Amino acid sequence: MDRLLIKNLSVSIEGKKILDNVSLEIKRGEIAALMGPNGSGKTSLAYAIMGHPNYTVDSGEIIYKNQNILELSPDKRAKLGIFLSFQYPQEIPGVSVSNFLRTAYNNLKGIKVDVMEFLKKINDKMELLNIDKSFSQRHLNDGFSGGEKKKCEILQMAVFEPEIAILDETDSGTDVDALRVIGEGVNKINKNSNSGVLVITHYNRILKYLKPDRVYIMMNGRIVKEGDHRLADEIEEKGYKVIKV
Ligand SMILES: Nc1ncnc2c1ncn2[C@@H]1O[C@H](COP(=O)(O)OP(=O)(O)O)[C@@H](O)[C@H]1O
Ligand SMILES: [Mg+2]
Repeated sequence: MDRLLIKNLSVSIEGKKILDNVSLEIKRGEIAALMGPNGSGKTSLAYAIMGHPNYTVDSGEIIYKNQNILELSPDKRAKLGIFLSFQYPQEIPGVSVSNFLRTAYNNLKGIKVDVMEFLKKINDKMELLNIDKSFSQRHLNDGFSGGEKKKCEILQMAVFEPEIAILDETDSGTDVDALRVIGEGVNKINKNSNSGVLVITHYNRILKYLKPDRVYIMMNGRIVKEGDHRLADEIEEKGYKVIKV
């Protein structure tokens, strides 16, 4: 099946239980949203999926392409087509967006892409995402606003064309313009590349631009409710207090 399946996952950090029996799925071609208050465990789930060494999986499985990816290194998980954006991208001054993306792309695909061919790819993707042409020549994260960092991540996702993408708090610290670029961009990538996307968010601002096929609510490390896009609307209207646990 073309889906990432998380089954009864429990995770701890330094002996402290963070995720408790979490099950969810990300299907290719679909958008799923993971919502929950601060500290509920959303980022921890993203890190566990990518194999961050600080997160100990105590039980459960993550299945993709008929294998339990928990047995694979983070690098192998990425090569399998799983992409994670970071909540706080590190700043790397002096490297252009274009060069950074090309190096990362070569690493990921295990090839040495032609420079001109790659520039064309980036330009095409920037056009698709309505990102200004000059953006790829900017120095990576050097004086980037929150919104620009997020645009950079969306561009990276568009260029990598991952099968499964996890976007963590892509709407935090972004202005309305960046939010629209990101929201519309995720929709286009989802359709064009048939990516399965998990959008992780505390607010539902980004969900004004995205209509998730599935919404999961996380509280205290557990998935407490599951539904369609109407569940996100309900949270927007009434807040997390409506969820009875
Ligand atoms: N590196 C860490 N060391 C210890 N506790 C952590 C660490 N990272 C996260 N936690 C704890 O795990 C819980 C979930 O955090 P997190 O996954 O960041 O939540 P969210 O992304 O939903 O805000 C919180 O109680 C947080 O304090
Ligand atoms: Mg978080």
